Amino acid sequence: MTTSTVASAEVAVVGGGIVGLAIAHALAQRGRQVTVVEGSRIGERAAAGVAAGMLAPSSEVDLSDPRLTDLALAAHAMYGEWTSALTALTGVGTGYDATGTLLVALHADHLAILQHLYDFQMERGLPAERLSAKAARDEEPYLAPGLAGALRMPDAQVDPRRLLRALPIALERLGATLHEGMRVTAIAPSDGGDYEISTERDGAASTLHAAKVVVAAGAWSRQIASPILGMPVVPLPMRPVKGQILRLRGERIIQHVVRTPDVYLVPRDDGELVIGASMEDVGFDERSRAGAVHDLLREARRAVPGIAELDLVECGVGFRPALRDHLPAIGNVDGAGLLVATGHFRNGVELAPITARLLADLICDDRLDPLLEPFAPGRFAPAAPAEATR
Ligand code: GLY
Repeated sequence: MTTSTVASAEVAVVGGGIVGLAIAHALAQRGRQVTVVEGSRIGERAAAGVAAGMLAPSSEVDLSDPRLTDLALAAHAMYGEWTSALTALTGVGTGYDATGTLLVALHADHLAILQHLYDFQMERGLPAERLSAKAARDEEPYLAPGLAGALRMPDAQVDPRRLLRALPIALERLGATLHEGMRVTAIAPSDGGDYEISTERDGAASTLHAAKVVVAAGAWSRQIASPILGMPVVPLPMRPVKGQILRLRGERIIQHVVRTPDVYLVPRDDGELVIGASMEDVGFDERSRAGAVHDLLREARRAVPGIAELDLVECGVGFRPALRDHLPAIGNVDGAGLLVATGHFRNGVELAPITARLLADLICDDRLDPLLEPFAPGRFAPAAPAEATR
């Protein structure tokens, strides 16, 4: 294998998924010289490349730690402006759409879940509106007859594939460097006081030096070695959670994001309808399985029978980066220049801009926003053994 020094950067971002690109964008906007290194092509392997793009701090609230909801609400508040600025810079529309979400109950069990969610939303002061079955069908005539009820929430959506097109263009406009198809194999502090990042592309090894490094490689973040410690450079309890997700195409038959407790349907202005998603603990298994596809179509058809007439154009598979507590890890790893932003699990698209903004505050201004405190990467470090009592 041949070795050459690629270059040096002020900040290297390892991972060109939605979180890594958003961080690089925020840093480049603040005048930092940034290099992004991505092991595949942008969007090819990223969880966001198959994600539906729901921005759902209200409808997913009962699934979340309250501190995660706070972060998601902060993301929600900035999303419209963030996407408009991206479009202004790049000319690429992001599909940001704030029509909202209808969470529908198809039977009494669902209704009980909706009631529980509604109570929790009221406790948290989140905006949610109870709708009768008739009112829900007045909003969305393609909803199944015989609904038990619905909730309307002001959640939004974005098209993650368009974001993955816009962000690299934004980086180029801002003078950042993006290496695709370049795998990072190891990261270590160098004698010169910065970090040495070992990379490999097409059998050629190379080295990149950077004063600061952000590991944002999603479910693959543990695969980067620390030659000094002989373990992953970010030794977090990470696992991939597989999601199978479908893309249909045809006449737009719903305007809102429609969810039941079992499935979500996300319509786009170009005729795409995204139906998701399974949750499977099966490692990096890239196969589409008939059972999951069947379950998604069955549940989606129960909510919106008209989907049966649409074309099924894609069965996608993605890997959510999940930490043991299902919360992200965002912050400093080594007390020096190594940082991480991963573990966003079901919320990577939603949390990308707020993660980027707060991590840029930390890197550029040494300011740790209180919103980030619950997500310190060090929370998984083993506790020091208690001193033996005599
Ligand atoms: N954010 C929805 C999912 O991960 O399926």
